[in-house]
This record gives sequence, C-alpha cells and structure tokens, in this order.
Amino acid sequence: MVLVTGGAGYIGSHTIIALDEAGYDFVVFDNFCNSSKESITRVENIIDKKIKVIEGDIRDAKALQSVFDTYKIDSVIHFAGLKAVGESVEKPLKYYDYNVNGTVVLCDAMSKNGVKKIVFSSSATVYGDPATTPITEDFPLSATNPYGRSKLMIEEILRDIYVSDNSWKVVLLRYFNPVGAHESGTIGEDPNGIPNNLMPFIAQTAVGKRDVLSVFGDDYDTKDGSGVRDYIHVVDLADGHVKALNKIDGFDEVMSINLGTGNGYSVIEMVKAFERASGKKVPYKTAPRRSGDIATCFADPSYAKDILGWVATKGVDQMCEDSWRWQSNNPNGYAKS
Ligand code: NAD
Ligand code: UFG
Repeated sequence: MVLVTGGAGYIGSHTIIALDEAGYDFVVFDNFCNSSKESITRVENIIDKKIKVIEGDIRDAKALQSVFDTYKIDSVIHFAGLKAVGESVEKPLKYYDYNVNGTVVLCDAMSKNGVKKIVFSSSATVYGDPATTPITEDFPLSATNPYGRSKLMIEEILRDIYVSDNSWKVVLLRYFNPVGAHESGTIGEDPNGIPNNLMPFIAQTAVGKRDVLSVFGDDYDTKDGSGVRDYIHVVDLADGHVKALNKIDGFDEVMSINLGTGNGYSVIEMVKAFERASGKKVPYKTAPRRSGDIATCFADPSYAKDILGWVATKGVDQMCEDSWRWQSNNPNGYAKS
C-alpha cells in the first residue's frame, strides 16, 4: 500500500485518482492545514470508492507510527508541506519545521518500519535563476528563499539517507508550474485568500472574484516582456507519480527528474489562453516586478521520457479549460460552493 502524505491537497488529490486508476491501494495522511475534507469526498465520488484517510501531522512520530502499524505500507509519495514563497520569507522557521523537520520525522518512521521507497515533491525552484533554458537535471542547484531552501535541504537529506543505506529508492520529482484540474470540474486548486500564483488569480478574475490581474513586470527579456514559465497540467503531473512508482524498484541511484512540458508561456499568453477557454475577459494591468521572480523557466523533460516513459499530454488550452470548469462550478472553492 502507498502512503500519500498531503494527499488531500491540490496535487495529491489528483494523484490519488491516478493511483486508483493504475490499481494501487493507498492511504492518505494529511493534517488538512491547507486542504479540505471535501476534496476527499469529491475524489471518492470520482473513483466511486471509499478512501482510507488518517488525519495527522507528519511531524508527529506517534501518529505516523500508528499508520505503519495499521497498514502494510511499502512506499510513500510525500506531498505534505507548505508552499507559499512569500510566507516562507516571513516565517522561515515554520517552513523548516513543516517541510524539513516533517520530512526527517517521516523518513525516520519509514526507516523504523522498513519502508524505503519515497517519491518526493520537489520543485523547479531548486534551480534558482538558471543561466539558460531549457533546464536539465544536472543544472546547478540554488535557492533564493526559505521555501526553495527547504526543498533543496530535503533533496540533500534524501541523498544522505541513500548514501547511508543504498537499499533506499528515492525519486525527486521537480515540478514546473502545476495548473489545471480534473476534467470532472469537481476538484482543483483552492488557495486560501488572495492567490499568489498566476493561474488561480486569472481564474478568480475571470469568474469576477478579483477585479484585475497585476502582471508582475513587462520588461523581462522575454517574447512580450512578461515572465515565462512551463505550465503543466496537474493530471499529467499525477501520472508522473504513478510512472515513478511503477519504475522505482529498478532504480539504483537517487533519481532527480523534471516534470514539465518543455514549453514556455508568458503571463500575457496565459491570459489570452484563459480568455479563449472561458469566453470571459481577464482585465490586467502592468505592475512592478515581484521580488525574487526570474524571467524564464522551462524544463527539458526528456529525462522523464527516457527514464519513466512519461510525457506531458495536455496543452495550455486544456489546462485553461479545466481550470475554468473547476473555477466556474466552484467559485468559492470547496468551502462554500
Ligand atoms: P497543497 O497545499 O494543496 O497540498 C499539501 C498538502 O499537505 C495539504 O493537503 C496540507 O494540508 C498537507 N500538509 C501540509 N503540512 C502538513 C503536515 N505537517 N502534516 C500533514 N499534512 C500536511 O499543495 P500542492 O500544490 O498540492 O503541493 C504538494 C507538494 O508539491 C508540496 O510539497 C509543494 O511544495 C510541492 N510543489 C508544489 C508546486 C505548486 O506550484 N503547486 C510546485 C512545486 C512543488
Ligand atoms: N504572475 C503575475 N501576476 C500574479 C501572479 C504571478 O504576473 O498575480 C507571474 C509571475 O511573475 C511569474 C508567473 O506569473 O512570471 C508565474 O508565477 P507563479 O506565482 O504562478 O509561479 P512561480 O513560477 O513564481 O512559482 C511556482 C510556485 C513555486 C515553485 C515554482 C516552480 O509558486 O512554489 O512555481 O515549480 F517553486
């Protein structure tokens, strides 16, 4: 059975559907600090099955031990953690506690219970400000904020664990920019308060919850001056986790793998794509650059293809259509829709 930490969250909820479709049995472990139990109910409706869920915190060794005592876990997909870059600058200790300490406690519990396979949610943020694009996995690693540093530290910790005992199987999946939603329109990204990320902000503007999108910077050295990113459909991302689990037994080194499409789109291009998909206007205005942002970031995803047989299949139009379906059916996310 697969233990899915953070399985109620945005990427986790899509991944458990993919696990179910692939025939994996799983248990979700989540403290719901950034998610809703409603997401689990909705996944249950999609897969037409009850989901095993334990409410608990990965920093709580006792709570984790009870999961290992109750279920025969043989691998872990580790999503649980905090992800807001700005908040991490204000509250670095919270981020190191949840992300780094949480992972240490989790790995210790795994080790004590003889479970040595882990797929970890890393991020393209570990490449810092890359000298060139597309980005391959051998690019130098760096971080510019506590969130990014927590991901780098966790990657290092997992590498050290492997060095100490090379019967561990470790896959570091470096996500680019996850967007979109399940085609049912019943689950999706549900940020608290004002969204930090582009897609949920665009979607909330299109649905009328926000007045105007601020485009952070119009003078980057990019096609139209706005920032360029590699947006990847969350359903493709979910599939990457299943493919990683399918292959994990065969790996005899720590695997760092980019999950991106290989295509870069600017903020303005994403606005236009969303307008096409939704039929709604997305008013925007130029605003100053956001501190810490880089001009361009997109993956070379060829390693994922070679190693996992994984490629992203869904383009930006589908990402926007699916985001819009979720947003327009659930203008207030899970809580009040
Ligand atoms: P999310 O916040 O929707 O999901 C994270 C889940 O973990 C939530 O359900 C939350 O309640 C749970 N959680 C947090 N701390 C916990 C703890 N201490 N114990 C138990 N559960 C806890 O975020 P997401 O977008 O689904 O991201 C999942 C993972 O992917 C995170 O590790 C994130 O850093 C990483 N990631 C996300 C992105 C992105 O843009 N969404 C990009 C790169 C990497
Ligand atoms: N942007 C705007 N206006 C907004 C929000 C974003 O113009 O209101 C721009 C940004 O400047 C950037 C692009 O849209 O050019 C994407 O910004 P996001 O905040 O959506 O995403 P980032 O690339 O900054 O970062 C995201 C996650 C990080 C993760 C990284 C790589 O927030 O946690 O992708 O995976 F590390």
